[in-house]
Amino acid sequence: MTRVVARAPGRVNLIGDHTDYTGGLVLPMAVDLSTEVTLDRGGDRLRLVSADDPAPADVPVRCAHPSAVDPPWARYVAAASSMVPGAVGGTGTVRTTIPVGAGLASSAALTVATALAVGHPHGALSLARLCQEAERRASGVRCGIMDPLVSAAGVEDHALLLDCRSLTWDAVRLPAGLAVLVVHSGERRSLSFTAYGRRRAQCEAAERVIGPLRDADAAGVAAIADAEIRARARHVVSENARVTEFAAALAGGDVRAAGALMVDSHRSLRDDFGVSTVVLDELVERLVAQAGVHGARLTGAGFGGCVVALADQGVESTVGARSWSVHASRGASLLDAA
Ligand code: GLA
Repeated sequence: MTRVVARAPGRVNLIGDHTDYTGGLVLPMAVDLSTEVTLDRGGDRLRLVSADDPAPADVPVRCAHPSAVDPPWARYVAAASSMVPGAVGGTGTVRTTIPVGAGLASSAALTVATALAVGHPHGALSLARLCQEAERRASGVRCGIMDPLVSAAGVEDHALLLDCRSLTWDAVRLPAGLAVLVVHSGERRSLSFTAYGRRRAQCEAAERVIGPLRDADAAGVAAIADAEIRARARHVVSENARVTEFAAALAGGDVRAAGALMVDSHRSLRDDFGVSTVVLDELVERLVAQAGVHGARLTGAGFGGCVVALADQGVESTVGARSWSVHASRGASLLDAA
């Protein structure tokens, strides 16, 4: 029997939300909150117990209908393993330090760790593509590539400037002395129960009028007749530009400019994309009013979950339900089993 331990990090997105599924730009980092799957490999079933749910995952490695599996977390396990060619089953455990349903990519980390544990050979891009598809099969949500890719490809002390059209990325070093704070709103959200799919459909509607949003500019957006679709497109086009400016600001050590771009991003997600909540708005306002905080915004899909703030090191959040000071960490890997 071979024991393997696969660890996959969660992520926080510093800027560039709701841009990945139209081939746009994002700038997330893998964080030091992670999910670990320990597996004694053998057989064609996968039996995992979780520290967070009394109901275990007990599924065939080749599961035909992962979305029908119970408990719900086992759907991600079933979907990921069933997609890995030559996957091996086994018995083991799942542990995570990523808060679930907080917009920190806990489900992507679970699919990535599972895929590695059952034998995916770990090329970051192929692993990410497989896990994006697994998440879709498990949950029915047509999510983008950002979460599994940064979980697979994360680089210590760096964020990733990821081009979701060419699927290429550059590591952007975080300036020394800077802290990344993640603050939980206390509002748990699940993508399946939100308007994520509707927002995506609205972006597709905009693209039917003006072509790829990645190539569009403000003048093109202004030509969209429907006011709501126009606002959604305005967010995406302006957000792609902010990601580029943010990466340049970080590279130049200009944390004030980076912080201001985060606040602009939050406003755009709130006003044009309609994915913020009153609690998230208040958190952002209170954070940016704090000394030593350069900027803050909701992170991930929105509709609840977390905000991210850039602050001077040593500053701690005085608001929110729970908070973490996170460090940019390396991507998923198999660890040496004890
Ligand atoms: C979720 C999805 C991602 C991305 C973000 C919003 O995290 O899984 O693909 O679309 O929302 O940026």
